[in-house]
Amino acid sequence: MPVTAVIGAQWGDEGKGRIIDYLSGQADMVIRCQGGDNAGHTVVNEFGRFVFHLIPSGICRPATCIIGAGTVINPDRLFEEMADVESKGLSLERLWLDRRAHLVMPYHPMLDGLEEAARAGSAIGTTKRGIGPAYADKSARWGLRIGDLLHRDYLRERLSMVLPEKNHRLQALGAAPLSLDNLMSKAGEWAERLHERIVDTLPMVRDAVAGGKRVILEGQLGALRDLDWGTYPFVTSSCPTVTGLLQGAGVPARALTDALGITKAYTTAVGAGPFPTELDGDEGWQMREIGREYGATTGRPRRCGWFDAVAVQHSAWLNGYTMLAVTKLDILDTFPEIQLCTAYRLDGKVIHHVPDTTLYEQVEPIYETMPGWLTNTVHARRWEDLPAAAQNYLNRIQELVGVPLRFVSVGPEREQLIVV
Ligand code: GDP
Ligand code: IMO
Ligand code: MG
Repeated sequence: MPVTAVIGAQWGDEGKGRIIDYLSGQADMVIRCQGGDNAGHTVVNEFGRFVFHLIPSGICRPATCIIGAGTVINPDRLFEEMADVESKGLSLERLWLDRRAHLVMPYHPMLDGLEEAARAGSAIGTTKRGIGPAYADKSARWGLRIGDLLHRDYLRERLSMVLPEKNHRLQALGAAPLSLDNLMSKAGEWAERLHERIVDTLPMVRDAVAGGKRVILEGQLGALRDLDWGTYPFVTSSCPTVTGLLQGAGVPARALTDALGITKAYTTAVGAGPFPTELDGDEGWQMREIGREYGATTGRPRRCGWFDAVAVQHSAWLNGYTMLAVTKLDILDTFPEIQLCTAYRLDGKVIHHVPDTTLYEQVEPIYETMPGWLTNTVHARRWEDLPAAAQNYLNRIQELVGVPLRFVSVGPEREQLIVV
């Protein structure tokens, strides 16, 4: 293990949370590296069912959990989550926030919603959690960092500079302006509740990595929503690929030992943008209902479709996966035939790569058909327990993606996992 990055290989919601919960049984440290509470990472174990938005999915284990410098944190959301975790009898003693992480301020979700409305027919379908506006401020150097909560005068000075701009924008979009005093009093509450957890996490991370401890870098979302390499503009505002994780955690690239790509046995996406294998008819409906494909953060129905090997190859290249996990195999148990997209057709030509968005909107999937297994797989715990047709399907996936299969998940619970 020593340093393993866990990455969504598709459009998000691949089951990163459940795999990280499993892996972190052997980990010393789990770091959330990028993104914010747009994430919804579901974990089901002996403590109950959790949907983690900001807290690392290793919190149910003894590992140290860090919300890293590359993230954006909405403290109000974090408090809700902390309360949920504590109500289930778990300790938060090992949870640390890096002081360089940016704050999602109350104006960010407001702007996210208003800007989405202004995009009308071209809306991205964001989670409206203020992620884009918070990262935009970070890049434009208007951002406030969580460490600033510890320096009240400095925070007031920064906010006094930023707020007129934000209010100007809010008013232009038809919303009421926010008051400096109200924001400062909110920041005061945040500081009071969080000050002991806001630290420089880099020495902790450095000691862990240099000391050969087992560290998991928890990715948020998936490679096809990467700011650079995803389906721009239908992407998030951070980089959920391996380099983004290393950057956000403060880990040098050469320290990385493994990159684990997580993919569903089919494909889902929430939000707009190209999705070549999407199924509009009965099969898509069936996948959504059997797979309970509704967003863990927003509850929106997820778009569903067949496994897209070209998209996962794209993400395998970008991330250099050393191993693959296929989740939700059980959802395909009742399909008599299963399709696998092996290439695209664009302008009459066969292509094997993900082109840029405007062209990607036009590709048609080329499918290979495989027989289904029509057998319940939820009780399988070893490779040998899987029906031959399911083994063939998984073998075909690993062959097409070109990465060895390490895990197969056949249910949401911790033990519903096959280690290959
Ligand atoms: P994440 O964001 O990548 O952590 O994934 P989500 O938690 O958003 O979505 C995955 C959903 O599928 C959650 O509801 C999980 O409980 C569930 N899940 C994960 N793996 C499996 C599996 O192998 N089979 C089934 N039936 N459900 C799974
Ligand atoms: P996890 O970590 C699925 C999608 C949104 C939208 C786009 C941009 O649970 O896989 P944003 O709010 O980030 O500005 O929205 O990204 N999106 C997700 N889709 N799972 C997520 O997180 C997502 N986080 C954002 O639907 O298309
Ligand atoms: Mg999710």
